[in-house]
Amino acid sequence: MKPDAHVLFSEEQIARRIAELGPEIGKVYPGQELTVVGLMKGCLVFMADLIRKIPTDLSVHLVRVTSQREEEAGTARTEIIYTTTVPYENRDILILDDIVDTGITLNFLLDHIRERKPKSLRVCTLIDKPGERKIDVHPDWAAFTLREPLEDRFLVGYGLDYAESYRGLPYIGTIPRPGAGRPRGVQ
Ligand code: IMP
Ligand code: MG
Repeated sequence: MKPDAHVLFSEEQIARRIAELGPEIGKVYPGQELTVVGLMKGCLVFMADLIRKIPTDLSVHLVRVTSQREEEAGTARTEIIYTTTVPYENRDILILDDIVDTGITLNFLLDHIRERKPKSLRVCTLIDKPGERKIDVHPDWAAFTLREPLEDRFLVGYGLDYAESYRGLPYIGTIPRPGAGRPRGVQ
């Protein structure tokens, strides 16, 4: 049986937002070929829906990053543990992320890609939590922005997991935040 969560953004809300976002993104790349790089695994459902709404030719790549974070110390050890062969150099790169929270994961990936000299580099995230930043990074697009802290709630569904569960929910929901610390590990 599918697990259950409090609905935060319904299937219909998500579909409407993505139908706006795709053409908005497309406008920035007129007649260009886009290289979309999805951050696994949380981006997968978002990516599948969004790429069908971007009216531009695009290729699709995937990257997986691990991070072991010590919240209190604000330190991070982040590394790429899987990647398709992405031709970054001189390409228009669009990163698709699930949640930008502290910004540590995204900042790491941006640095990695910048070294490879793309023509342009932009970020679209499903959810932006600007209030949680430890590193100052700004996605170019966010499907949804959560300005208020979620306090004791944790986001799940539509690709987002808690301990690998909930990814198959068709909506974005919340569950009580498990434990005191945030569940971390492989993204
Ligand atoms: P950060 O921006 O480096 O802190 O990492 C963001 C990543 O943490 C996201 O890509 C998610 O995988 C994970 N994450 C943060 N908050 C949540 C949440 O509320 N639900 C599920 N995953 C989360
Ligand atoms: Mg995750």
